[in-house]
Amino acid sequence: MDVMQIEDSLGLTVCRRQPLVIERGEGAFVWDDRGNRLLDLTAGWGVTSLGHAHPVILSALANQAACIIQNPNSGFTYSPARARLLVELQQVLPDGLDRIYFANSGAEANDAALKFARKITGRQRVLAIHNSFHGRTLATLSVSGSSGNSARFLPNVPGNDFVSIDEFGAEIDGDTAAVIIEPVQGEGGVKAVPHDVLQTLKQQCRSHGALLIIDEVQTGFCRTGDFFAISESGVTPDIMTMGKGIAGGLPFAAFAMTQELADAVQLGDHGGTYCGNPLMCAVSAAVVGCLREQRVDNHVKALGQVMLQDLRELQRAFPDLICEVRGRGFMVALALHEDAWVWPLTDACQRQGVIVTPTRNAVVRLLPSLLLTAGEWQLGLSGIRAALVELRQQCAGQARCA
Ligand SMILES: Cc1ncc(COP(=O)(O)O)c(C=O)c1O
Repeated sequence: MDVMQIEDSLGLTVCRRQPLVIERGEGAFVWDDRGNRLLDLTAGWGVTSLGHAHPVILSALANQAACIIQNPNSGFTYSPARARLLVELQQVLPDGLDRIYFANSGAEANDAALKFARKITGRQRVLAIHNSFHGRTLATLSVSGSSGNSARFLPNVPGNDFVSIDEFGAEIDGDTAAVIIEPVQGEGGVKAVPHDVLQTLKQQCRSHGALLIIDEVQTGFCRTGDFFAISESGVTPDIMTMGKGIAGGLPFAAFAMTQELADAVQLGDHGGTYCGNPLMCAVSAAVVGCLREQRVDNHVKALGQVMLQDLRELQRAFPDLICEVRGRGFMVALALHEDAWVWPLTDACQRQGVIVTPTRNAVVRLLPSLLLTAGEWQLGLSGIRAALVELRQQCAGQARCA
């Protein structure tokens, strides 16, 4: 079967840019249809948090599938798998976020959070930050400032404004329903919001009766070296959204809010055919349990520091190509001098056996499995180094020196 030919002619996908047919994965590696092994430093957009084909996920999937996949009248009936997940989440969520809802994707969780913010506050205005990314539904596009996303399907949901991080103080007012923000911008190029800014934002929201929605879809579940990126800031959001790594690669998401806010939500305000599906819940409970018991947050924090140091050394070796290295935990960006170099570097990495994530605004991102070992990282680093040598040869003469 010619997979690429069939997909090119029959499938409508957003962008098919990498001529790579992935057949299987195990741990931090994937194999293509020619049997080549590649190190996956993307975790499928930061999703396969325990790597590929982790036994904990495989056994949770098989056991739950043999038990039940979808409840009759799901949502009306109870589920032991969902109860197990709720207990797991209770142990890791910030204090005060006691009420938990489930969704199928990060965008859907954010969409629901925005919807609830309207109902709870009786207001419509939502503030988001420039360069933000919260998803691709109509409502979430309307609060996603990154690279003109929100301008592609006008008109946006009314009442939204984009502001810079230092403008929030002046912009939040008595009409503001909510502020939505990523603690570390992911698609925006791995840009962390300082803890004190989040603390001030929380106070400003509280004093105007606006809700603070923290989008931990990409940063949550140990990605940044803490269970949640806001953990160290001491800020408890009014609503926190989660996705991606929550279920190790299965399409699943959640959002949590305070009991006080949940009191304003009525039966029927939210739901969906698959929300809280037992199969997803069983896998998610297994993933969260594994992250918690193995203290994966500590591993990510420690190895994440090493990754940053190693990449900063690369920056010193390739100052003509790399202008900045930034990141937290296993969420790392190599910022290049030229946007046009992103794909050549991505392709060169692939030739060197390493898959990285090309990102807008001259950034290449690394979002590896959270169980990546130090040895696997060294392999990745050598591949990236060799790819930079290739890029330098390709770009000789065009380089803009730092
Ligand atoms: C911070 C953030 N929020 C929301 C989303 C949307 O999640 P999903 O693609 O699961 O809808 C993403 C996806 O990249 C994200 O990074």
